[in-house]
Amino acid sequence: MSSIKSIGVLTSGGDAPGMNAAIRAVVRACIYNNLKVYGVMRGYQGLIDNDIEELHSNSVSNIIQSGGTILKSARSMEFKTEEGRRKAYANLQKRGIDALVVIGGDGTFTGARIFGQEHNFPIVGIPGTIDNDLYGTDYTIGYDTALNTVVEAVDKIRDTATAHSRLFFIEVMGRDAGFLALRSGIASGAEAVMVPEVRTDFDQLEHFLQNGFNKNKTSSIVLVAEGDEIGGAIKIADKVGKEHPEYDVRVTILGHIQRGGSPSAFDRVSASRMGLSAVEALMDDQKSIMIGLANNQIVHTPFNQALKNKKALNPQLLEMTKILSI
Ligand code: F6P
Repeated sequence: MSSIKSIGVLTSGGDAPGMNAAIRAVVRACIYNNLKVYGVMRGYQGLIDNDIEELHSNSVSNIIQSGGTILKSARSMEFKTEEGRRKAYANLQKRGIDALVVIGGDGTFTGARIFGQEHNFPIVGIPGTIDNDLYGTDYTIGYDTALNTVVEAVDKIRDTATAHSRLFFIEVMGRDAGFLALRSGIASGAEAVMVPEVRTDFDQLEHFLQNGFNKNKTSSIVLVAEGDEIGGAIKIADKVGKEHPEYDVRVTILGHIQRGGSPSAFDRVSASRMGLSAVEALMDDQKSIMIGLANNQIVHTPFNQALKNKKALNPQLLEMTKILSI
């Protein structure tokens, strides 16, 4: 029999569509298993400020379809200090909370790993970020929705690019990873994709663009990951525009639109599976692990490994972008 009787749940870092579905799954799984469940507001900051309330089944009614997070999110500087974490631990003890489920990205798991070790406190993580940059899971919650948001936007830009025979550089989020840029590039038929994982080869880019226009392509779209080592879409567009005044160049930065919106069915199902598994893992006395999906199966990865290793881009997908844009 597990000693865990009560679980807290929080969302931290950049919000991602599907976080609500994960919260709902955690709450319902706790109630199903006769555990008390508490929602912590504004991530780790809410733990420090004792902004915590008990959740019931109907607290999470009608939220599976909503973007954002009902628990709100924050990036807490205070939790980076030992004093902040001491306050957080004291509040958890006062409330009688035995374990935490934290939903977020690598910053969230870094905080969880330190706090878990410092106070010998059981924590299980659920990957929630549009960046999909976490080792130990094929997909993070929010990535699929963001991908579809980007593709929908690029399709619209393609219409106007074609009308004016223009070259567009479209910048997408992803922090220092290129997952969002690579897949959205493939799905939208982009002429080229620029990601931080691969050095930008300007000669090759020019060759692609020239080739396309020589073949009477009426528009060109280049997807640029915000973390690309050149420094983003504006810089790249500037350089290409100066060297090729014959191109009519435009830039679109998609920005935070990528973080919002109703989660896709895929994200809702993944979030539900991971939320349920997180509660089961805690009941099984596991700690300091991240729940993930590998080959459509639930897997567990220790925080240490998830944080130490870098998830690689699929080289076959990278190669595909070159073949398919000829
Ligand atoms: O990690 C998610 C993310 O949206 C990144 O893609 C982006 O670099 C960052 O968060 C933006 O953070 P903020 O919302 O704090 O500006």
